[in-house]
Amino acid sequence: MDALHPELLLEQVLATFAGASDPRLREIVVAAARHLHAFAEEVGLQSDERRAGVAFLTAVGQKSSDVRQEFELLSDVLGLSSLVETLSTPEGATLQTLTGPFYAPGSPARRFGESMVERDDGDPPAILRGRVTDRAGGAVAGATLDVWQNASNRLYAIQDPRQPRFNLRGRYTTDAGGRYEIRTIRPVSYSIPDDGPVGALLRATGRHPWRAAHVHLLVTAPGHRPLTTEVFDADSDYLESDAVFGVAPELVLRFEPDADGVAIAHFDIVLDGGPHEP
Ligand code: BEZ
Ligand code: FE
Repeated sequence: MDALHPELLLEQVLATFAGASDPRLREIVVAAARHLHAFAEEVGLQSDERRAGVAFLTAVGQKSSDVRQEFELLSDVLGLSSLVETLSTPEGATLQTLTGPFYAPGSPARRFGESMVERDDGDPPAILRGRVTDRAGGAVAGATLDVWQNASNRLYAIQDPRQPRFNLRGRYTTDAGGRYEIRTIRPVSYSIPDDGPVGALLRATGRHPWRAAHVHLLVTAPGHRPLTTEVFDADSDYLESDAVFGVAPELVLRFEPDADGVAIAHFDIVLDGGPHEP
């Protein structure tokens, strides 16, 4: 048997997975092995390069901890996280985006229109408002919007012990018409954590670590599929080069000043599932 012929070698590898009891697991590992072999062949991968790759993945693992998930970050900067969220967004529903590392459960409930600014840093005020509906256009009353945003020092409250714990975090609820209103500040761009191997990869490949200015929303309602999404400020830098490929045109909002100089943006959200849908 010519085990060293690439095609035969691949066949042998794939055959070893035939006994997997979970068909979905088999489908995934078979396709992963196939693509990995094709990749090595395409670039003519050398032994030292394969070892460098193993060393890189080892460093990614070693950088990971309870509070730092470097593999997630790697998935993010490769566009894999955004790809998977996009592919799993139901037709007609608001685009899903990655959650990122800075979500924390337990944000306080806030009233309609209440500010989630817990420390006044003199930042430009903003209001984000809109409606939550199902795909048939019916209002989703009582939906929860769990919102998180970084401060103008570019840090989220969970990264920054000097901020009040719940600064720029809050859980809002839609009214009977499905409407919500969040008072906050204009978001600012920030760098993803780049002090680990993923940051080294970005530098080695001439990439920057910046994310366009955004606000995250986790929207939940009984009988509906939970939605994690984010909205971007149309005036932000990095909209064309977001480090984790989260920007899509339908998520980019223009903030327009009202008579009081408060920047207002409108974002309607469509959830999958619900009473109108089988
Ligand atoms: C974020 O938007 O919070 C984020 C997403 C991916 C990596 C780092 C940060
Ligand atoms: Fe973020």
